[in-house]
Amino acid sequence: MDKVVSLCKRRGFIFQSSDIYGGLSNTWDYGPYGVELKNNLKRAWWKANVYARDDISGMDAAILMHPKAWEASGHVQNFFDLKSDCKNCKKRFKSQELKDKNKCPECGGTLTEARPFNLMFKTYQGPVEESGNEIYMRPETAQGMFVNFLNILDSRHPKLPFGLAQIGKAFRNEITPGNFTFRTREFEQMEIEYFVLPKEADKYYKSWVEERFNWYLSLGIKKANLRKREHAQDELAHYAHSCTDIEYNFPFGWSELEGIANRADFDLKKHAEYSGRDLKYFDDATKERFYPYIIEPSGGVDRACLAFLVDSYHEEKVKDDLRVVLKLHKDLAPVKVAVLPLLRNRPEIVTLAKKIARDLKQSLISVYDDTGAIGKLYRRQDEVGTLYCVTVDVQILEDKQVTVRERDTMLQERIGIEKLKEYLSDKLGTVLLK
Ligand code: GAP
Repeated sequence: MDKVVSLCKRRGFIFQSSDIYGGLSNTWDYGPYGVELKNNLKRAWWKANVYARDDISGMDAAILMHPKAWEASGHVQNFFDLKSDCKNCKKRFKSQELKDKNKCPECGGTLTEARPFNLMFKTYQGPVEESGNEIYMRPETAQGMFVNFLNILDSRHPKLPFGLAQIGKAFRNEITPGNFTFRTREFEQMEIEYFVLPKEADKYYKSWVEERFNWYLSLGIKKANLRKREHAQDELAHYAHSCTDIEYNFPFGWSELEGIANRADFDLKKHAEYSGRDLKYFDDATKERFYPYIIEPSGGVDRACLAFLVDSYHEEKVKDDLRVVLKLHKDLAPVKVAVLPLLRNRPEIVTLAKKIARDLKQSLISVYDDTGAIGKLYRRQDEVGTLYCVTVDVQILEDKQVTVRERDTMLQERIGIEKLKEYLSDKLGTVLLK
């Protein structure tokens, strides 16, 4: 884990938030490569769940919602952890994680009795900070989709089964955040709410568990590091009939990457009750009105990024050197191609290399780098997972060819510059579309 955290900082994937002020603990900023990885991951999810299907539409609901929505959802009443504070060092602990409920695990001081602590961030809407103006930062994106169910029925007239998909920020005032970006107070979720006939809920629940598990594998996660874990009855969230977690074998142990829940008709019924609106679905065929059941695959963008970073981190010995490579899937790699001049003191080589990089930039994410000797430049690109390095040397002046080096095998090929784009597009396929 330390190696991945250090690489993330060294190479510009992830930085501590507000670093120059000593950092805001457990809050992270994505740097130039991190944001590309994150965007590629979100694009891959959107492509698989929205563009590749006919039954799911995308959405982008606001972070702020009517406070009543959080009463209906049960978050005001149920979304809390029990916490204890140390009377001596003032640190706060999640009661569930304490071995000794009375003694501070850090300084040995006496702990207060366990008290409920709501995990929602509260703020005020408008200029006056008074009760009545209180509003919450959403702790999940899901509710934004449930409250739009009627708008979707009225505007799109979908037939069951159909789904909504959304990617967006969520906020939870976690008592014990940690493990780098695994548990933070501000994070991104990618959630699907899939509406089905009640009698078909179990069938779709099971098929979504498989579908989501396979999605991680399709992007290169090692099968040995991924598993499914069904929740016991006493572990289920207040809204869930059943739930299966997809877990990843992180360096700190098997932990949840995504949860797939059968939420039954809990959400639509509650929002109908609290809003006074009729949220039943009318089935043309049977002429029945009823609340559809909801199957919800809910994943974390940051957790998935962390899992892909950890899973792709690879070290190998090359001669006397240690080569560090991020063997990221081609759809996820932040940079597809790097163009590197072998001699940076030869203006004609530099000009040609820059022109090649500029041409490639039209269709794929590529970079130009001449800030070091070639060995150093290769090492740098390997560490961020760049798929191909195109090296421009003096020979180009005679044979109009460049050397293309593949990341994982390090095999090199001489390719004519006029064939370079075609060669790379054959190798990279659809990722060429930016
Ligand atoms: N709508 C259901 C829901 O929000 P959840 O299991 O609480 O379910 C879903 O959250 C996913 O969101 C988790 O599997 C995880 O990937 C991500 N997630 C939840 N809390 C998080 C946190 N504090 N930091 C980072 N990711 C988190």
